[in-house]
Amino acid sequence: MIIQKPKGTYDLLPEKAFSRVYAESKIREIFDLFNYREIRTPTFEYTLLFKRSIGENTDIVSKEMFTFNNSQYSLKPEMTAPVIRAYLENGLYNQSPLIKLYYISNMYRYERPQAGRFREFSQFGAEAIGSSEPFIDAEMIVLAAFILSEFQIRNYKIKLNNIGTPDERKKYLEKLFNYLNKFKNDLSGDSKKRLQKNPLRILDSKMTEDRKIIENAPRLYDYLEQSTIKNFEQVQSLLSGLGISYEIDYFLVRGLDYYTSTTFEIVSDELGAQDAIFGGGRYDLLTKQLGGKPTPAIGFACGFERFFSLMEKYEYCIPEENKCILYIVTSGNKASVFALNLIYELRKSGFKCEMDYLNRSIKSQMKEANKINAAYTAVIGNNELDSGKILMKKMSDGNQTEININNINNFLINENKTGKTG
Ligand code: HAM
Repeated sequence: MIIQKPKGTYDLLPEKAFSRVYAESKIREIFDLFNYREIRTPTFEYTLLFKRSIGENTDIVSKEMFTFNNSQYSLKPEMTAPVIRAYLENGLYNQSPLIKLYYISNMYRYERPQAGRFREFSQFGAEAIGSSEPFIDAEMIVLAAFILSEFQIRNYKIKLNNIGTPDERKKYLEKLFNYLNKFKNDLSGDSKKRLQKNPLRILDSKMTEDRKIIENAPRLYDYLEQSTIKNFEQVQSLLSGLGISYEIDYFLVRGLDYYTSTTFEIVSDELGAQDAIFGGGRYDLLTKQLGGKPTPAIGFACGFERFFSLMEKYEYCIPEENKCILYIVTSGNKASVFALNLIYELRKSGFKCEMDYLNRSIKSQMKEANKINAAYTAVIGNNELDSGKILMKKMSDGNQTEININNINNFLINENKTGKTG
């Protein structure tokens, strides 16, 4: 029996891998345009890092981590904590008071797999560490919207909220608990469990029985201090000035404990149940929680699989892969040896070419050249080796040009320049 891939994972076969790499390179260009620099961190970290940052009672830490070696290590379920760990450990704060970083990396969460939800998935994301100014909140959201527009993804919604500081939340949490407790028998099974441990997360529930109760729940917004509200209004006015449409969702709480103040999500109706494409927000207390000096910060991450399915829905055009300019058809061992050396030289000059490695007949080699859409084919056998001349056959019109074998390089340069290879 063939061994299959684990549940919640996927293979990227060459065609999709090509599109993905293309999208990644375009995303890298956009991050560069906004002056973010790439950071890479290990695939696994000490479990403690995630416990301290994401929070022990969150779904991610309490039930979704791939943890091993006596629970000492965990595969990273997200990148914000590793980025802040690296920021502190490497003293990046010494380089500049504002550090702008981005990443594209695989993450691991042991979730129940479904459409758009994987156990190994990829995120691209950005983190700006060092500024509490609302301008950077606006830049972060504009950056996400810019990426979406560059990939022609439309009809998404930007949901915005401000969840204040833990102090501001304390009074609110009491009120929220008292309110929800009145309905505890009517809450969904999951929400019943969350009531004691993490009642804020109930606001995020999509279950209809919970939604009815949440509709009339007290709003965190009403417990925010004036300075927080002023900051929130500034972020909104900057976004409006930039022409970014958003809606305020007073119940947007996000599933990770490190968030403070601005939080946002970008959702799309085209994605089904797992509708969040981007998620992000401020985490001004995280650096302190991880042992550093208090440093305000904000970021977002986007799930590549969801992003990619939107790219496909909106028919984003990925350029075609480069085709081989030349396929050398060989006849006999001597010709194969010659061809092997010849295409090595041509490849050194930057020409993508191919030959036969399966000892196939001339006819099936020709078929292969057609199948891979090579621009030219040339047959090399004893005659060609003796005469030093070959026929370059242009596959699009069947025209043949006789040239010296030594001249192939120049011939291809000339053909490439004049664009005649098509
Ligand atoms: P998150 O909301 O947990 O936030 O994840 C961000 C995005 O990753 C989601 O909106 C979704 O597109 C994608 N995602 C999450 N889990 C899965 C999964 N199991 N399968 C497929 N896609 C998934 C974070 O990870 C934060 N670190 C974001 C952030 C950065 N906040 C500040 N800076």
